[in-house]
Amino acid sequence: VRDWNGVAQVVLRSPKGASARVSLHGGQVVSWRNDHGEELLFTSSKAIFKPPNAMRGGIQMCFPQFGYSGTLERHGFARNRIWALDDEHPPINHNDNASKVSVDLILKPSEDDLKCWPHCFEFRLRVSLSKVGDLSLISRIRNVNGKPFSFSFAYHTYLSVSDISEVRIEGLETLDYLDNLSHKERFTEQGDAITFESEVDRVYVSSPNVVAVLDHEKKQSFVIKKEGLPDVVVWNPWEKKSKTMVDFGDEEYKQMLCVDAAAVERAITLKPGEEWTGKLELSAVSSTNCSDH
Ligand code: BG6
Repeated sequence: VRDWNGVAQVVLRSPKGASARVSLHGGQVVSWRNDHGEELLFTSSKAIFKPPNAMRGGIQMCFPQFGYSGTLERHGFARNRIWALDDEHPPINHNDNASKVSVDLILKPSEDDLKCWPHCFEFRLRVSLSKVGDLSLISRIRNVNGKPFSFSFAYHTYLSVSDISEVRIEGLETLDYLDNLSHKERFTEQGDAITFESEVDRVYVSSPNVVAVLDHEKKQSFVIKKEGLPDVVVWNPWEKKSKTMVDFGDEEYKQMLCVDAAAVERAITLKPGEEWTGKLELSAVSSTNCSDH
């Protein structure tokens, strides 16, 4: 555990040199590097690494609300809170023979959180790095309340790309999506893989559990596998919106793409004592290893 601008971060390392860094601020994954030391997640050069707001980049935990779907601040409060190491599990597995190294974090609501969202929960997050450098996140959210509650959720994932115009997403074609740029109107995706030439802010609903983001210029693909998360949010602010964000460079939209495993269209409801699990697994593969891309 190291200190980073006053907030602890945990570094996971694979035997071959891949690494991941997880901040207790937001339970956010702030870095994921392959075994050549290349960063795979986008972080804005203007990112602010100071609570209370989430740092612009990495993987943010959006809970108990995605976007402005409820009464809370955008994307909920979990990404803005200071999490704790979860003592119920050994925090890091140092066994070299293990197939993964992991860290376990936990978030419980503060008195203030309960004032704006009056539901007692325990949110346990396990972030793991496999021997080959794959990153996995497992969220377990438990209702420790006397009454049912509902929430939406997203792993808000800023992928680093070479040039947005060289990128395409496979796995979302022909799906329905809700377009945040036109009052959440529902459309059906036509055509082939998704490519980018203007602002995009969509929730693809009921998507398959594997989606690939192909970066033609880098000759690299991200393979995104998810469980328990029916939707995929795709976001790129493009030129005009970028200029309105203080913690984002004017040209940085070219180097990032958010592809979030999410549960947005239909809220998840937990009865007292019930637990929900949502998993994300990310791998970065070179195109030469991809079947026919
Ligand atoms: C995306 C949303 O997931 O996050 C966008 O779909 C939003 O609508 C973006 O603009 C960034 O949100 P924030 O709160 O991190 O600036």
